[in-house]
Amino acid sequence: MTDRIKVLIVDDIPETRDHLSKLLGFESDVEVVGAAAGGPEAVQMATALKPDVVLMDINMPGMDGITATEKLAAEVPTTAVIMMSVQGEADYLRRSMLAGAREFLVKPFSSDELTASIRQVWTREKEKQSRFAPVVVAPEASRNGSGEPASVVAVFSPKGGVGRTTISVNLAVAAAQDGKRVALVDASFQFGDVGVLLNLNPRNKSIADIAGELQAGEQYDSFESFLVTHSSGVRVLLAPPTPEQAELISPPAVRQVLQVLRGENDLVVVDCPSSFNETTLGVLDEADLILTLLTLEITSVKNMRLFLEVCEQLGYGPEKIRLVLNRADSTLGIRVADVEHSIGRKVDHTIVSDGRSVVYALNRGVPFFLSNREAQVSQDIERLAKAVTGPPPTTASARPEKAAKVAAKNKSLFAWR
Ligand SMILES: Nc1ncnc2c1ncn2[C@@H]1O[C@H](COP(=O)(O)OP(=O)(O)O)[C@@H](O)[C@H]1O
Ligand SMILES: [Mg+2]
Repeated sequence: MTDRIKVLIVDDIPETRDHLSKLLGFESDVEVVGAAAGGPEAVQMATALKPDVVLMDINMPGMDGITATEKLAAEVPTTAVIMMSVQGEADYLRRSMLAGAREFLVKPFSSDELTASIRQVWTREKEKQSRFAPVVVAPEASRNGSGEPASVVAVFSPKGGVGRTTISVNLAVAAAQDGKRVALVDASFQFGDVGVLLNLNPRNKSIADIAGELQAGEQYDSFESFLVTHSSGVRVLLAPPTPEQAELISPPAVRQVLQVLRGENDLVVVDCPSSFNETTLGVLDEADLILTLLTLEITSVKNMRLFLEVCEQLGYGPEKIRLVLNRADSTLGIRVADVEHSIGRKVDHTIVSDGRSVVYALNRGVPFFLSNREAQVSQDIERLAKAVTGPPPTTASARPEKAAKVAAKNKSLFAWR
């Protein structure tokens, strides 16, 4: 990386500005280009200096951080704002999210947290800018508009720890129990958990073996011999046993794997990582359906909004994306209606929160769908499985109010705003 990340610090307290400058001074890939003491100064400096990232204090006299973020979004759209806030300001966080902040840091934060979020935000912005300059409509975008049942289903979330692996595994098991031929791919190449949830021996073959063979010029029209069969009938392509081996796996290899598996199965479930990189993008492009998971947390909601924007720019039609609210009843101050309003889309499926069944199953290495079939969480999974393996709902009957709005306003496909 030759570019340094240009950071502008905005805080009304001089000690905080100094402290942040000093912390960032230790980072060789970060350059503090300036420090502003208030909103108007921040907007002025950002316009002149074009920083990559602005660290914005939320509470400042005069123009507050939220208003300044709104102005920045309009005047310097290439700049990503990281909002800094003290605990207990949930409402502020919500408002900053709507104003366009990309990330939140709750004070006090460690220098590791600070630099990690600067780098993450910067990488995401760079990827977005280089990738989305020309808006390309992928041919895959309309694939599942044809009425065919979905065959490659990516389980994705822009945020980790929301239940992707839990849902991927149980969804695959539910479909297999329903008589479908199902492959489950652990695309969390660095830290795959699918093998753990299914209690599979990590010495089995993994996708790294396929990648190695493909690199060596081998041709395959079946990857059957690389899959491990679980007692539920699901056939699993494991993630590599060590994180280093993840680097072997190129985006074209992943696409090839999915294309081959698509031909051999009724359903291919892919447990995706939350990092939005080339490989993940390959999976999402290849998918007929993206089950996008969210929970009732402000960060989850914020990331979802950004992800939907990205999907729109990638040319994914709204029918390619389904929103799945996991742990739907574990409300911590946010209502489903608020979430839907904020992201401008209805939640398509909900999965109940059931720590007892889920964690017990996790620790035993037996999916809850098998061990606790009666539980509500299993029934929710079954409904989800039926929905993804059955024909897609027709837009008109499933979401009449939305279809009408889209038609009437001819606005963005994802947004009601
Ligand atoms: N519906 C649910 N009810 C209760 N706990 C859940 C539920 N879904 C996931 N969890 C728990 O949340 C944690 C994260 O889930 P996991 O599937 O590993 O997330 P991810 O793959 O998105 O990182 C795990 O401890 C899991 O047991
Ligand atoms: Mg996971």
